[in-house]
Amino acid sequence: MHPASGMNPVLEWARRHQREAPDENLIDDLRAGMSVDQAAERQGMPRAAVHGVQSYYEYLRHPAPLRVCAGTACRFAGGWMTSAALPGTAEVRCLGRCYEGRPCRTDQTPAPIPRRALVDEPVVLRHVLGAGGADPERLYRSVARPAAEEILATLAASGLRGRGGAAFPTAAKWEAARRVDAPVKYVVANGDEGDPGSYVDRLLLEEDPHAVLAGMCACARAIDSSGASGQNVVRGVVYVRAEYPAAAARACRAIAEATEAGLLPPGFAIEVHVGAGSYVCGEETALLRGIEGLRGEAQPRPPYPTECGLHGWPTVVQNVETLAIVPWLLESGRKPASKAFCLSGAVASPAVVEAGFGISLAELLARGGGGAAPRMPCPPWKMALIGGPMGRVLPVAAFDTPLGYDTLPGLGHGGVVVFDAAVSARDLAGHLFEFAASESCGACTPCRVGTAQLGHRPDRAALERLLDTLELGSMCGFGQGVPRPIRDLLQHFPDEMFPARGAR
Ligand SMILES: Cc1cc2nc3c(=O)[nH]c(=O)nc-3n(C[C@H](O)[C@H](O)[C@H](O)COP(=O)(O)O)c2cc1C
Ligand code: SF4
Repeated sequence: MHPASGMNPVLEWARRHQREAPDENLIDDLRAGMSVDQAAERQGMPRAAVHGVQSYYEYLRHPAPLRVCAGTACRFAGGWMTSAALPGTAEVRCLGRCYEGRPCRTDQTPAPIPRRALVDEPVVLRHVLGAGGADPERLYRSVARPAAEEILATLAASGLRGRGGAAFPTAAKWEAARRVDAPVKYVVANGDEGDPGSYVDRLLLEEDPHAVLAGMCACARAIDSSGASGQNVVRGVVYVRAEYPAAAARACRAIAEATEAGLLPPGFAIEVHVGAGSYVCGEETALLRGIEGLRGEAQPRPPYPTECGLHGWPTVVQNVETLAIVPWLLESGRKPASKAFCLSGAVASPAVVEAGFGISLAELLARGGGGAAPRMPCPPWKMALIGGPMGRVLPVAAFDTPLGYDTLPGLGHGGVVVFDAAVSARDLAGHLFEFAASESCGACTPCRVGTAQLGHRPDRAALERLLDTLELGSMCGFGQGVPRPIRDLLQHFPDEMFPARGAR
């Protein structure tokens, strides 16, 4: 605490950055085709700063008309590592079409997303299984009825933990934002879904956007501490990755529908922000910089976004799947016991599968994915990457591992890419190294320098030393998490990772 003001000096410094959201956004200007000079003049920014933003984002760097997916499932579709690059095209790290089982391209119409549930009462997929869909009025009513304190109490009792990867208790985050007294607050739906192998957020935004928006309404009501006076404002932003244009369009339409029907809380307006191609922008502090039109670099914490977030105001960032659960939870008062898993790779029927926490990977693949893909040799499976590039690699011998945030730290968002024996551990490691080096935001040295070195370590000991440096020295969850699947590969496939001399 600062002895004079009684306030945390970091927070005091951060508060000086509070400002009104500007009307123009630099990323939108550049996306619309403005030159660096024009954008610099319009934004009143130095040209170097505009260059910094333009060179950071894939879609601003390479405005190619045709993009080819180089995400994990597409890269290994067919069982071995393929090069996605084609002349005149640009690579994109995941189009969220992992279930299609082919290297996807933006000039092909996406196939509808298959989905199924292994639980009697699905929660995440409740409106997208079968015909019917959501009843928007009922959804918004379920979050408009309880008082703010009741919303927080129900949420806390439910034990809901965020589904975006960190598994942080949702109620604690909302309570923290409520405690801060500020005239403006934000709730942001994180629809960046950068993990290759995940596509449930795309499904929800495209087919059940009102559940997500209603979850945001519940959050807006819960964090607004102005009470009956109603003097404070809460604003909403849905952040959708550039690779999901249909999701962004559907979210915009749903906001218009809800606004027109008077279903949003009084004074609560929601807008959509489309990303520009950056994995790290899924990290909450980087995401907020992205919405502000800046380079999507992660920021040191504290201060946390709940104290000093978008444009300096207290902000709750919540994953799309987490938000979609909230209306069900407030209506039923029950604990959500299931989660969406996205299956892809060497399975017969890739799909979004809702299953109970604690299901084993083997059962999930057998009942949810129809078993091994028919083309697979016997034994078909070798390993699975779970939770994306900062997740876990399980060898087939460990497929009885129960899936849950406590039983498998690193479960992340629940993407599951399965590999057969044609994929070597070294190929998968090479793919992860390449991903890490090209997606590091560069804001801290261990990650900026370390990720570029990952593929050049001569032996296991040297690689492990580098992994230690990344894990201990990196500023955000990206550099800290990159070592996780690599360590699994080293543990389970040491000879493939570093063959003994003479055996190469
Ligand atoms: C490198 C990195 C990428 C991330 N990407 C995403 C993402 O795409 N979507 C997401 O919801 N959370 C992502 N997260 C987690 C967010 O920082 C944040 O914890 C989350 O959005 C909070 O929502 P939740 O509590 O509902 O999970 C990422 C974290 C890191 C470190
Ligand atoms: S760990 Fe990597 S992604 Fe995170 S702040 Fe450092 S350089 Fe950026």
